[in-house]
Amino acid sequence: MRVLSGVQSNGKLHLGNYLGAMKQHIELQSEHECFYFIANYHSLTTVQDAQLLRQLTLDVALDYLAMGLDPEKACLFRQSDIPEIAELTWILSTVTGKGLLERATSYKDKVAKGIAPSMGLFSYPILMAADILIYHSDIVPVGKDQVQHIEMAQDMAGYFNGAYGEDVLKRPEPRLNEALVVPGIDGQKMSKSYGNTINLFDDPRITRKRIMSIKTDSTPLEAPKDPDTCNVFAIHKLLATADESQALAARYRQGGMGYGDAKKQLAEVVARLLEPATERRLQLEKDGDFVEDVLRTSALKARKVAQGVMASVREACGLVTMKGGPLD
Ligand code: TRP
Repeated sequence: MRVLSGVQSNGKLHLGNYLGAMKQHIELQSEHECFYFIANYHSLTTVQDAQLLRQLTLDVALDYLAMGLDPEKACLFRQSDIPEIAELTWILSTVTGKGLLERATSYKDKVAKGIAPSMGLFSYPILMAADILIYHSDIVPVGKDQVQHIEMAQDMAGYFNGAYGEDVLKRPEPRLNEALVVPGIDGQKMSKSYGNTINLFDDPRITRKRIMSIKTDSTPLEAPKDPDTCNVFAIHKLLATADESQALAARYRQGGMGYGDAKKQLAEVVARLLEPATERRLQLEKDGDFVEDVLRTSALKARKVAQGVMASVREACGLVTMKGGPLD
């Protein structure tokens, strides 16, 4: 089975990103062949500053490697190192109805947020389908907000195969994490655009402050509390062991524990995850050549697969040279 996913390089990654997608990306590296890429073509829809985009791209690479992505097991590369993606995007756009894209909720959400409605933003789902289909991906692990995009990729594979009468492109399946919603410090879904995130690589003092400011209700310290309606417990449960989370739930129900205590426990499990990762990230930052090497080696491997699939796509739709093969 081939697993594929992309990560946008448009800001600091946070616990919501980790629990929603990154964690399962890293876990899957031991089970399947994994291709993960930094979606810098996608980022061009919102980031138009070369220096910033380069930095954000490197940051995603560092974040993934620091959190445990093992380059011996999984490929981690830049989307833009596979230029065939742009070619497949065009070809898919010729078999895809405009109506399909008009139904994309993420386009509407982004425009409502004030992002410029460029053609790139509109056809974002086609670029994403090309990302997926060019590797004959079987499984696409993503957060819930991306499921509609995967379904569109399934549709586009069908349109292409239908138009050219062959099973050239493979239908991918989305895979969701059990952590469907990670609350932010204000209790809404954790998201960069709500400003309610706990980032993976902030200064530990800031991280602790953010945790201590998570919104809770005003149940007095002595009173029993319901863990299942508490934002602090919800995040703790996603990061702690089953034993730890049962023990904390019991303390909620017993009464006599304030929310401040629960937050301290959460701060501990967060630090347990992030302290060693921060250490690794600092090391990696000093070793730019290693990171660049990982990105290049992975891209070469992924590109071979992409070129193989593109050869069959070009063949199927008649984009061939007179002699049959592509020009060298
Ligand atoms: N759109 C995805 C996001 O914002 C990132 C992405 C780009 C992606 N291409 C992909 C995810 C292909 C999965 C597969 O999170």
